[in-house]
Amino acid sequence: MRLSKCHNISDLRTLAQRRLPAPMFHYIDGGADDEWSLHNNTAAFDKYELMPNVLVDVDRIDLKTKLLGTEIALPFFLSPTGMSRLFHHDKELAVARAADKFGTAYALSTLGTTRLEDIADAIDVPKIFQLYIMKDRGLTREFVARCKAAGYTALCLTADTPVAGNRERDLRTGMTMPPKFGLKGLLNFAMHPHWSLSYLRHPNFDLANVAHRTDALSGGSMGLIDYVNSQFDRTVSWKDVEWLVGEWGGPFIIKGLQSVPDALKARDVGATALMISNHGGRQLESAPAPIDCVKDIRAAVGNDLELIVDGGIRRGNHIVKALNAGADACSIGRAYLYGLAAGGQAGVERALTILKTETERTMALMGCPSINDIKG
Ligand code: GLV
Repeated sequence: MRLSKCHNISDLRTLAQRRLPAPMFHYIDGGADDEWSLHNNTAAFDKYELMPNVLVDVDRIDLKTKLLGTEIALPFFLSPTGMSRLFHHDKELAVARAADKFGTAYALSTLGTTRLEDIADAIDVPKIFQLYIMKDRGLTREFVARCKAAGYTALCLTADTPVAGNRERDLRTGMTMPPKFGLKGLLNFAMHPHWSLSYLRHPNFDLANVAHRTDALSGGSMGLIDYVNSQFDRTVSWKDVEWLVGEWGGPFIIKGLQSVPDALKARDVGATALMISNHGGRQLESAPAPIDCVKDIRAAVGNDLELIVDGGIRRGNHIVKALNAGADACSIGRAYLYGLAAGGQAGVERALTILKTETERTMALMGCPSINDIKG
């Protein structure tokens, strides 16, 4: 199968599975525990219907969306995801450049494998830096200073990871960062020569934004769960968020909350936007689907906060449903990572083209020429 034969995100997933050794594929694809939340994030969209308004002039469909005080060309952007080097040697730059080409925002993860300054140099679209508050608070201060200097649009604090979720697929496949080519894994890597040769040719795995402070992997390799549990600060609370909002002084996103009381607290500490998210079903198993949370949060916060639905999006029609339920925008993670694994920047562009085309078609069929028409 080639990229041009991938007609939807599920086809990109199939191609990604062929290209990647099992530990890398399952790291992207898997979730916590029994993966109920992972599956429910997408399945929940099936409960929502879209009402068509016919005989509306839909000759021009306008996808432009306002977010974080700027305008983006699409009603969705690219969520922060860790360790892109494991999926393609062009790493986060491939993803950021695709976002730039489509005029939408890119969010870089603290657990990314590219320096935040290198992303800033490469793209003109809004840039978001996602961070955790780690035990080393000096690192958090350093991130704030570096993001200011590099011209980042917003900071995004992930709030749902006081400890790592229970990702059993990673335990079974022996997923480590960087990957180990031990005897056990050798056959698997040999069966994916394209990936393995590219990895050996560009062995540039580095948690590029944290390595210098935390001696991130102590010169060896370790499982994600061990890394998170050793570096992340479990004592973080709303007081720390208030402090960070003040240090940053610009647009501030809190990612990974789902309840109305938490949304109200986020407003009170000065957040600009919420990413309603359960971390793609990778953290708290049985957390509700983000699409099911947006209506109540919108009713509670009115227009005080921008709301982003993050989780389960595999179709343009899911994006339209999220906007229709009260979101300002959506963000996608796995959908573009499958593309990255399937074909680098061209694969990410394929994912964005698929979702853009599907969103446009859905809007035309609904009789909604602009994003505001969907919001109703
Ligand atoms: C990191 O945030 C992950 O979910 O693996």
